[in-house]
Amino acid sequence: MTPDLFGDTPGAFAPEPLAPGAVVLRGYAAGVAGALLAAITEVAAGAPFRQMKTPGGYTMSVAMTGCGEVCWVTDQTGYRYQAGDPLSGQPWPAMPEPFLRLAGEAAAAAGYRDFIPDACLINRYCPGSRMSLHQDRDERDFDQPIVSVSLGLPATFQFGGETRRVRPVNVPLSHGDVVVWGGPARLRYHGVLRLKQGWHPLTGEYRYNLTFRRAL
Ligand code: SIN
Ligand code: FE2
Repeated sequence: MTPDLFGDTPGAFAPEPLAPGAVVLRGYAAGVAGALLAAITEVAAGAPFRQMKTPGGYTMSVAMTGCGEVCWVTDQTGYRYQAGDPLSGQPWPAMPEPFLRLAGEAAAAAGYRDFIPDACLINRYCPGSRMSLHQDRDERDFDQPIVSVSLGLPATFQFGGETRRVRPVNVPLSHGDVVVWGGPARLRYHGVLRLKQGWHPLTGEYRYNLTFRRAL
């Protein structure tokens, strides 16, 4: 589905089923990782990584920034998509071209056509960072999938059900892996276990995760 970018080896990125509506595309983004990481550096120059606070007053262990028309933020007053970076009052950096292209192609490879994200949340994990189980439900249109790209250190992704009662499955994710969930899986709970110590040649002691969403 993406022959120009990734070479024309059919089946090389055969989606690995995770649940109805959800797949893992192993290594899908590895070939463009350099471009994605350069774009992350550029975004972070305009909108630096920061550890946000939840409404409960807890400081997230994951540092975040983002780009696009809006980005997801959290503070004492709640969770929301916001058009400007609360740190600077400026608009978020525009979505870099390699982001847009990868997100659209990965969504298509997972069976979701015409995905054009308007928001990308960039998560940066250091050893010890984790993300507790949550649903992505602040977007307006649940018909659009979530496309989630892993770069750098490996992590264990947890993929659960539509309620917290369903025990999540553990999915090991490595550099370049892309998870796409939409349709019947769109509101599944998910999270990331505490990141282990490690060193990756491209990202050092970090794991980056890009989540592409159609928020508006
Ligand atoms: C998220 O749910 O926003 C993050 C998922 C991940 O880091 O893999
Ligand atoms: Fe999420």
